[in-house]
Amino acid sequence: MAAKSSKHSYNLPHGREENDRLDAQHHAIVELIGGRVYHAPLSRPSKILDVGCRSGVVTTHLAKCFPSAEVVGVDLAAPIDLSTKPDNVTYLQGDFFHLVESGVLKEGDFDFIFSRMLVVGMVDWPRYASTVSRLLKQGGWVEMQDLSWHLYDHNECSIDDAFPFVLAIQNLLLRKGLDPFCGEHLAEYMRSAGLRAVDQKIYPWAWTYWKNRPETRLIAEHSRSEEHIAVQNFLLEKLNNGVGAYTSEEIRTLKEENQTSAEKIREGMHYIFGVAYGQK
Ligand SMILES: C[S@@+](CC[C@H](N)C(=O)[O-])C[C@H]1O[C@@H](n2cnc3c(N)ncnc32)[C@H](O)[C@@H]1O
Repeated sequence: MAAKSSKHSYNLPHGREENDRLDAQHHAIVELIGGRVYHAPLSRPSKILDVGCRSGVVTTHLAKCFPSAEVVGVDLAAPIDLSTKPDNVTYLQGDFFHLVESGVLKEGDFDFIFSRMLVVGMVDWPRYASTVSRLLKQGGWVEMQDLSWHLYDHNECSIDDAFPFVLAIQNLLLRKGLDPFCGEHLAEYMRSAGLRAVDQKIYPWAWTYWKNRPETRLIAEHSRSEEHIAVQNFLLEKLNNGVGAYTSEEIRTLKEENQTSAEKIREGMHYIFGVAYGQK
């Protein structure tokens, strides 16, 4: 593993507990999107990249699906547990763009590039999509899976206004130059980067179990878990640092609202989880 330091400051906690939360989230997302990890129609890829791989849960899955492929996982954070690393996986620590600029990740080298949940970390999506396109071989596939921080009811009507915490996160992400609604923009980013055969699927990241959508069982449980709410509150505070959009009193009230909003939650309330894939 090439360990590279990065000046990039990420907005979520590091450490084993966060990895455990992300692994639980992984299982919930897989259930939500139909029991699969990716949608792109891959045929025997020989080199795969997982951008923002964190715990390596997807990297490891891809390595096991394609044992003859070389699989590279990139993250700002160091991988925590290397004891279960498959032999065909290499982890690189560092900022994705830096690893491309310094030639560690090479143009035209990859058959498949995957990323998931970069919503609070990716500051320049058009640049990301065009860089990914450059790294792909001709005919290679990219898949991006991400959240759109828009809250809808069961009729797909926007209900953001009833949730000050959601509005505050949107506001802070925008102020930091991040795209809170990237989950709904992924296909657009890919098309603008010149990718073709782009397809997009939208899934409901439900806040509570939605009987008509049984695939929301785990994601709803995850969304209201203590760990997930604590991380959202951490994110609010971290984003506000330096921006100072809210006073500490306002931050405290927003956190409380996030913790106690359970009584406002109705069946069918959901964020959008977007999946887009396209080919070079
Ligand atoms: C919310 S985690 C998601 C991890 C994993 N993709 C998953 O779905 O379980 C986002 C990860 O992206 C990484 N990340 C964000 N921006 C990055 C960048 N520019 N280069 C490398 N990693 C990045 C963060 O360090 C973080 O571990």
